[in-house]
Amino acid sequence: MTAAENSIVTDKSLAPEGHLKIDWVQAHMPVLNRIREQFEKEQPFRGLKVAISLHLEAKTAYLAKVVQAGGAEVTITGSNPLSTQDDVCAALVEDGITVFAKYNPDPKEYKELMIKTLETRPDLIIDDGGDLVTILHSERRDLLEGVRGGAEETTTGILRLKSLEKEGRLEFPMVAVNDANCKYLFDNRYGTGQSVFDGINRTTNLVVAGKTVVVAGYGWCGKGVAMRAKGLGAQVVVTEIDAIKAVEAYMDGFTVLSMSDAAKIGDYFVTVTGNRDIIRGEHYEVMKDGAILSNAGHFDVEVNKPELEAQSVSVRTVRRNIEEYQLKDGRKIYLLAEGRLVNLAAGDGHPAEIMDMTFALQAMSLKYMNDRYEQIGKAVVNVPYELDEQVARYKLESLGISIDRLSDEQKAYLDSWQEH
Ligand SMILES: NC(=O)c1ccc[n+]([C@@H]2O[C@H](COP(=O)([O-])OP(=O)(O)OC[C@H]3O[C@@H](n4cnc5c(N)ncnc54)[C@H](O)[C@@H]3O)[C@@H](O)[C@H]2O)c1
Repeated sequence: MTAAENSIVTDKSLAPEGHLKIDWVQAHMPVLNRIREQFEKEQPFRGLKVAISLHLEAKTAYLAKVVQAGGAEVTITGSNPLSTQDDVCAALVEDGITVFAKYNPDPKEYKELMIKTLETRPDLIIDDGGDLVTILHSERRDLLEGVRGGAEETTTGILRLKSLEKEGRLEFPMVAVNDANCKYLFDNRYGTGQSVFDGINRTTNLVVAGKTVVVAGYGWCGKGVAMRAKGLGAQVVVTEIDAIKAVEAYMDGFTVLSMSDAAKIGDYFVTVTGNRDIIRGEHYEVMKDGAILSNAGHFDVEVNKPELEAQSVSVRTVRRNIEEYQLKDGRKIYLLAEGRLVNLAAGDGHPAEIMDMTFALQAMSLKYMNDRYEQIGKAVVNVPYELDEQVARYKLESLGISIDRLSDEQKAYLDSWQEH
């Protein structure tokens, strides 16, 4: 069957709009374009099947096309029910990629689309959040055979992989793309920082300046969100559980509070911890009328929705991607994008120039995995430093920036223990 016959998408006639979106990002992804040229020549994935689960929007679509240009037969599905864009899916089908993805499928269908992706019997996997790998290691172990390995995009997925590895149950190797410098320093920090406010601002159309923004978690993503909130003129409060990160946030000029205290004063809340129940019942009880809640962590468990519902007398959609919860005492609390990643479910995700580096790492890591999977064995491994550095060098070249090189004398000086 052809990709077009096999695919499950919402509406194939949306393809022209999807092609325009993909063309736009491609023009802003010079590093990935270079890798595409290399792949076209070298055909590293000739004859192989690659299954991808990522937030299915234009940048991801372009990554799928780059892997296809390297000779692979590519099948793609979403990694969150609300981040799939139907026009982009339709365009990919026209480009010969098998797509099993729709915007907002119900949870059962969402899972079925993932399973269909795995039923293509991939040799290699690109995962985001660990769902493909988890299905293969639990209910569909019959599909494990033949999987050589893959690459994982995000912090949460890597935590899940490491937990499988620790229990001795990981069945194939995975590269931890998130842990490369060219990923977390730029994607998690600058990408999440900018795109979270793109999502919040376009959804609410309200001002940020002068408001109090509470950022839960001061990891790589949280630092970016706090930085952007400050740039937009907000008073920024950070909550943490890690003492070192909390001191860092304080030294960066932010107010550090417990969530119990922050809940009383926040106008906007952004959770970005990768953990669950960060905002919960006791916090809703003390929040200001009109507080706006959002999440940018991978799963929709950071804002406890069941407890918010239980404390509410009514829930209604007041604007696209905004749910109004009216509490028993009359206060209203607003939740954006059902508590799913606000930058992707209510926006277009990170800027193309940021995903250029992330997806260059993804593409190179997949090739690395295919070249080395037998030597690596059943382990979670880091992106080799040379690949990480190469992405940075390509990026600098695309920006027309040259940097200095160590002279022989400088190298010798740095390598010497003798008196300086
Ligand atoms: N929205 C996006 O586009 C996007 C992009 C990259 C990563 N992510 C996701 O965002 C989440 C965070 O990623 P990261 O790279 O910043 O991770 P990280 O590990 O660098 O940071 C997470 C921080 O949250 C803190 N934390 C944990 N539990 C907490 C709690 N109860 N209260 C307050 N703070 C708490 C940790 O101490 C840590 O500092 C993950 O789920 C990741 O997959 C989202």
